[in-house]
Amino acid sequence: MSGTTQEAAHHGPIAPHGGTLVNRLVPEVTRSEFEAEAHTLPKIALNARQISDLELIAIGAVSPLTGFLNRDAYLSVVRTRHLPDGLPWTMPITLAVTEAQAQEAGPGSRVALTDEAGTLLAILTVEDAYPYDKELEAREVYRTTDAAHPGVAALYAQPEFLLGGPVEVITLPEHRDFPEYYLTPAQTRACFAERGWRTVVGFQTRNPVHRAHEYLQKVALEIVDGLLLHPLVGQTKGDDIPAEVRMRCYEVLLEHYYPRDRTLLAVNPAAMRYAGPSEAVFHALVRKNYGCTHFIVGRDHAGVGNYYGSYDAQLIFDEFDPDALGIVPLKFEHAFWCNRCEGMASSKTCPHGPEDRVSLSGTRVREMLRAGEMPPMEFTRPEVAQILIEAMRQ
Ligand code: ADX
Repeated sequence: MSGTTQEAAHHGPIAPHGGTLVNRLVPEVTRSEFEAEAHTLPKIALNARQISDLELIAIGAVSPLTGFLNRDAYLSVVRTRHLPDGLPWTMPITLAVTEAQAQEAGPGSRVALTDEAGTLLAILTVEDAYPYDKELEAREVYRTTDAAHPGVAALYAQPEFLLGGPVEVITLPEHRDFPEYYLTPAQTRACFAERGWRTVVGFQTRNPVHRAHEYLQKVALEIVDGLLLHPLVGQTKGDDIPAEVRMRCYEVLLEHYYPRDRTLLAVNPAAMRYAGPSEAVFHALVRKNYGCTHFIVGRDHAGVGNYYGSYDAQLIFDEFDPDALGIVPLKFEHAFWCNRCEGMASSKTCPHGPEDRVSLSGTRVREMLRAGEMPPMEFTRPEVAQILIEAMRQ
């Protein structure tokens, strides 16, 4: 692991990105006014990814953003990985619409945003409606223009215009599964303060927590006060394990193997973009908003296929001013169980060769689970494997 705790040894909680925790939820007392206005406005139905972005904006998870990126901010993020005011920002948070919708939404106009069933979610004040260059975004943000990349495929499938401007959110999307884990950044911050955690490490995952993940988290826990286990539960690829199954895995793992008073489980409503390095920085900044001082970046963070080098998502952090990032990346090499060391290790701590390491591909693990076979306990805790086997049976 590299990275230090010294940088984060400040007094009081870490400041949100840009200094202020954004809250775009309208006060309860004004809701009916917004609802009445929304009846008179053109409507745009958001898809699941756009709704999760709206939620991130509403609760301040993507502070300092107060809405979807306008043209200046979009081009600045894509071309320079910074917002126009110089703050690091690596993922464009955009609202793609058709040409007809863009024409209807002139600058200064207001548009009602709904879910696909027509439930009102928010009102957008349009700053600009603009065409954009998808290939440029693919190349700069995803580092590939290959339409087989799931993030690039989603980008290419979007309509041709973007609407930028601040939002006022009237209703947050309803979460029927595990609602108790949808803590807002203000709520996780309050939890950290209540527990007296001055330093907190955030852990992003879209998978069940295997032994390698557990190792990274526990090494980090040796040097910080608390762990925010923060699985991403927005849209993921079809072959990723569904969030409701993963949540049961996290619960059982925490119950049996983690100190209760030093861990907090909450979810990140974001959709997965598989953008590797760009997404790693984005993931870190979002966790800073949730109050984390440190963030784990392991091997091929947010990667997919062979699009990124194993450590590209760590190297990108060196391109930013650490003070401007504000959150400290804790960088880990590939971790594995070593039979001769009789423990988890990495090439930084273990002198033995590949023949001594328990190493299984994701595909092999899935095959085993589908066949009802337990993967070795050196790879996955048996309680977690059991849940996965049962889920695969259904
Ligand atoms: S990710 O898309 O959310 O990054 P995943 O849930 O697999 O995927 O990874 C969560 C975090 O653990 C990431 O920081 C990733 O780099 C790290 N990671 C996963 N497996 C390993 C491993 N064997 N060794 C080191 N880091 C790992």
